[in-house]
Amino acid sequence: MIVARKLTKQADDKFILRGIDLEINKGETVAILGPNGAGKSTLLKVLATLIKPTSGLVSIKGLEMKKSQHEIRKLLGYLPHSSFLYDHFTPLENLVFYGAAYGMDHIEEKAVSLISSVGLSFFLNEPVKNFSRGMVQRVAIARAIIHDPEVLLLDEPHTGLDQGAADTLNSVILTMKEKGTTTLMVTHDFKQAAEICERAVVIKNGKLIANFCLNGKDVNFLHSKYTELVEGGAS
Ligand SMILES: Nc1ncnc2c1ncn2[C@@H]1O[C@H](COP(=O)(O)OP(=O)(O)OP(=O)(O)O)[C@@H](O)[C@H]1O
Ligand SMILES: [Mg+2]
Repeated sequence: MIVARKLTKQADDKFILRGIDLEINKGETVAILGPNGAGKSTLLKVLATLIKPTSGLVSIKGLEMKKSQHEIRKLLGYLPHSSFLYDHFTPLENLVFYGAAYGMDHIEEKAVSLISSVGLSFFLNEPVKNFSRGMVQRVAIARAIIHDPEVLLLDEPHTGLDQGAADTLNSVILTMKEKGTTTLMVTHDFKQAAEICERAVVIKNGKLIANFCLNGKDVNFLHSKYTELVEGGAS
């Protein structure tokens, strides 16, 4: 579903990504782990078509990024660090705005149902600027999935969520997985990664240093594997 080959990204004279090869199958849920500054968010931005790689190839659902950027964008739901929301808009207005941009039908109905599924029904018509960090994150999640994307690219999606909202997010991801959605999730949260991901890749200094299965593994396995890889000097 997602293929990256020899992907590099250079900014000024700094190599941020140094030759990433990655393959994600349809319906997989994969965690991207790695220390601060490793290049995880940069990789996600390249896959989300927001920044161009310096060299290398990306294809999503058989579409090559260089040629089919617009078609690819329609397939993607991207949740960045920043919320991508309009502050003075309400959750409903934000979702309707994004749904319209994707040319969706029955947007308002879908928006109301999604806002309710992230637990914000009471705040449907309140401007987002009055919201707490966790509430903004909940709306941002609903925004990222308003158009039923086939691929979800999530950058630290659990940040700022309380336990209830984190559980809601996980069930949203798993429900979408049942429908065939492919998810790539950057995270520092090993517990969430172990709970919902079947595979993990580790990025360090712009390189992919590990790629392993998480099926049937728990958070302790992931913790010790990560420590061994990242603090054990693999590069
Ligand atoms: N536009 C840019 N110009 C120059 N350097 C950049 C640019 N974008 C990112 N970087 C640098 O690239 C490196 C990787 O950044 P990135 O945000 O991808 O890291 P990350 O793995 O997501 O880290 P974190 O876990 O802290 O979110 C950092 O050293 C950052 O300073
Ligand atoms: Mg990041």
